[in-house]
Amino acid sequence: MKRFANKIIWITGASSGIGEALAYEWSKAGARLILSGRRLGELERVKAACMYSELCVTLPFDLADRQQIETAADRVLQQFGTVDILVNNGGISQRSLVMETDLQVDRRIMEVDYFSGVTLAKKLLPAMTATGGGHIVVISSIVGKFGFPLRSAYSAAKHALHGFYESVWAELHTQGIRVTIVCPGRILTDVSLHALTKDGTPYGIMDHGQKNGITAASCARKIIKAVRSNKKETYIGRQDLLMVYFKRYVPWLYYLLVSRVQPR
Ligand SMILES: NC(=O)c1ccc[n+]([C@@H]2O[C@H](COP(=O)([O-])OP(=O)(O)OC[C@H]3O[C@@H](n4cnc5c(N)ncnc54)[C@H](OP(=O)(O)O)[C@@H]3O)[C@@H](O)[C@H]2O)c1
Repeated sequence: MKRFANKIIWITGASSGIGEALAYEWSKAGARLILSGRRLGELERVKAACMYSELCVTLPFDLADRQQIETAADRVLQQFGTVDILVNNGGISQRSLVMETDLQVDRRIMEVDYFSGVTLAKKLLPAMTATGGGHIVVISSIVGKFGFPLRSAYSAAKHALHGFYESVWAELHTQGIRVTIVCPGRILTDVSLHALTKDGTPYGIMDHGQKNGITAASCARKIIKAVRSNKKETYIGRQDLLMVYFKRYVPWLYYLLVSRVQPR
């Protein structure tokens, strides 16, 4: 973990769940953290609980607002010059059927889960390449590898991340840019509580899958291990990961299983 000491790591979605757990793990390693999310109170709580809270700053902004994202990136570049690791983690899930979901909800999920990270990457890549490189860690999902009922927009946004960041790597790895795309399965966080329903209101229910998922702390440790070993793509979960391999190697089995999932 020594290699992360004094590294500047910007984590979006640091006010809860996986982002919060990443903050605690990287703080133990002596990293300088920028903690982002909308809820300043929660960000301050996370900062105070970090091992080296004096090395952490909070920077609240809304990932759905391009202006706020660009202003936040300008502030980071002004204060730190560059970022060693950008963790595009902040995101929102979905619990609604294709035919019932308002198009505004599809667009919002695309903004928060896809365009926000693209905006941040475009703002930071010039500084990263000018200073010898940087690492972008992208929190996708296993549904970034296959479609799933009630997740149409979420799955689409997560799929889009793969195309964008694989292309970033292809264009910029010779300039020191590394990319790690993380595909978690079910992780015990509030993600289903915050998920959007057909009209954009929060789902508000702790799903069985999340309740029985692996802990955010365990997920964070696996993410950091993948970053340390410069993995390009990694899957984190239990038997839920099998669907990734069914889709890739036994597609008929994936289609059979996904057709039997009860959407509600
Ligand atoms: N938990 C799982 O089972 C699972 C599985 C696969 C992938 N993931 C992915 O993991 C990432 C983290 O989710 P989580 O499980 O830790 O859920 P979570 O506890 O709900 O955390 C989501 C984080 O994203 C932030 N966020 C959401 N909307 C935002 C907005 N408009 N502007 C700024 N920040 C926003 C939230 O902060 P504020 O509310 O303070 O804004 C919060 O810190 C997400 O990208 C999610 O898709 C989770």
